[in-house]
Amino acid sequence: MQSVVCLFGAFIAAAVFHPGSCVETVIGLYGETIEVPCNNGNNKPDGLIFTKWKYVKDDGSPGDLLVKQAQKDEATVSATDGYKSRVSIAANSSLLIARGSLADQRVFTCMVVSLTNLEEHSVEVKVHKKPSAPVIKNNAKELENGKLTQLGECVVENANPPADLIWMKNDQPLVDDGKTIIITSTITKDPVTGLSSTSSRLQYTARKEDVESQFTCKAKHEMGPDQVSEPETFPIHYPTEKVSLQVVSQSPIREGDDVTLKCQADGNPPPTSFNFNIKGKKVTVTDKDVYTLTGVTRVDSGIYKCSLLDNDVMESTQFVTVSCEWMSDVLYFSINISGNYSADPSVIGIPKITSLTKHRSNDGKHKVLTCEAEGSPKPDVQWSVNGTNDEMSYVNGKATYKLTVVPSKNLTVSCFVTNKLGEDTKEISVFSLFEEDTSKPEKNEDGTEQAKVIVGVVVGLLVAAALVGLTYWLYIKKTRQGSWKTGEKETGTSEESKKLEENNHKADV
Ligand SMILES: *[C@@H]1O[C@H](CO)[C@@H](O)[C@H](O)[C@H]1NC(C)=O
Ligand SMILES: *[C@@H]1O[C@H](CO)[C@@H](O)[C@H](O)[C@H]1NC(C)=O
Ligand SMILES: *[C@@H]1O[C@H](CO)[C@@H](O)[C@H](O)[C@H]1NC(C)=O
Repeated sequence: MQSVVCLFGAFIAAAVFHPGSCVETVIGLYGETIEVPCNNGNNKPDGLIFTKWKYVKDDGSPGDLLVKQAQKDEATVSATDGYKSRVSIAANSSLLIARGSLADQRVFTCMVVSLTNLEEHSVEVKVHKKPSAPVIKNNAKELENGKLTQLGECVVENANPPADLIWMKNDQPLVDDGKTIIITSTITKDPVTGLSSTSSRLQYTARKEDVESQFTCKAKHEMGPDQVSEPETFPIHYPTEKVSLQVVSQSPIREGDDVTLKCQADGNPPPTSFNFNIKGKKVTVTDKDVYTLTGVTRVDSGIYKCSLLDNDVMESTQFVTVSCEWMSDVLYFSINISGNYSADPSVIGIPKITSLTKHRSNDGKHKVLTCEAEGSPKPDVQWSVNGTNDEMSYVNGKATYKLTVVPSKNLTVSCFVTNKLGEDTKEISVFSLFEEDTSKPEKNEDGTEQAKVIVGVVVGLLVAAALVGLTYWLYIKKTRQGSWKTGEKETGTSEESKKLEENNHKADV
């Protein structure tokens, strides 16, 4: 590899400018033989006596390398230092340096001596080396959702000049933003070889979807194509946001059945232990997510819950109803007839919750939940939380239940209605009374009602405004018609009068 740094070329520069101010540069490869040309091959003048290669040692003293007499085939190596065994001369007078190293990055000069002239041509040597392939080290075992974590360290070794490293996620470069992505690069030089190693540390704030992301590191170097590391992936940890309790057994559940409750959480890694609330009794299961009730009877019907060991706010509720053998027949029968006779409350009907709403009590200290259900015989109600059951009515097959609660935390409240024919359940979110901004309406059925009222008021105002406008217009029109005939001065704007006058003239014609 060879390049001329100065546009004028070595000759002109040497002649016109200070000698050495413009030097040809060649780039050699580390560990290989470096060829240093002498005046680009134009170095055999008439009457050539000898060619000599020399350099300037680090301490400034002259360093002779070799001399080649024109009549002799062999050159005489005059170097006594490390160059002694590494230098030779080519037929075209190029200096050949075996096993190039960074210590060879210096200026070499060939001296061409003929009968009539003495010329010197200097060449600067640079030695380049491609880095090793990039490797990602010290990988994080997992990343935590939303938390800046050191993901890994990318390393390339033994390059000259130093390599640049670029972190990539799914083949897209990652850019340091000083906050969610922080990239720290360091370059170290080997004291013996002088070669540089580059290391780049990536601190990264992962998101849940990064569980799919592939991280690589790309090394850029002038000695060849980009090199890319093996891709790395990372598990992403995040806390549970939702717990769900499932009744695994087939319904309807009959007396004597085994019933398995399964508790699931959406965090990663998934929690391995849970608290089950078995009709008010707390049971902790470790290293499993199920609890089995064996040989259930009707008294096992009721509310079951599960929650996280360390956070009982993460809770889920299910109602289990154990029916007797004969009941399923009744149930079957009632399904058949309910379509035809549902309007008649005297006819038996499976309970069905028609609405579950919430609103704040007038004094703002409680939440009142209202659960409305149809069904016959009169359904019984169960709520998943403690509270005051203050009202209950049952009219024409429609039951209304009210529960007053003082939620100190956000809750999911279930209303469960049951009669001997079946059951129904509905859930509603109730936000803590102690955190809410009391000026904001809740986003629920009440909210919808309020929105409807607001829309109604706005529409009403618009209609009223339109009516006022219409009345005014009619009034103006009437006054003007009068004024045209009488020639009285108008009360409208100047533009209006102009138009009206035009119309008047047209009418005259
Ligand atoms: C000198 O000769 C070598 C082969 O011996 C060749 O590779 C090189 O290109 C030549 N250099 C010049 C400047 O002609
Ligand atoms: C509900 O009340 C029962 C009985 O008073 C009590 O055992 C239970 O702990 C209460 N549950 C909650 C969630 O407060
Ligand atoms: C309750 O829910 C509201 C609205 O979703 C939320 O802003 C608040 O942080 C929650 N409070 C608790 C204690 O989880």
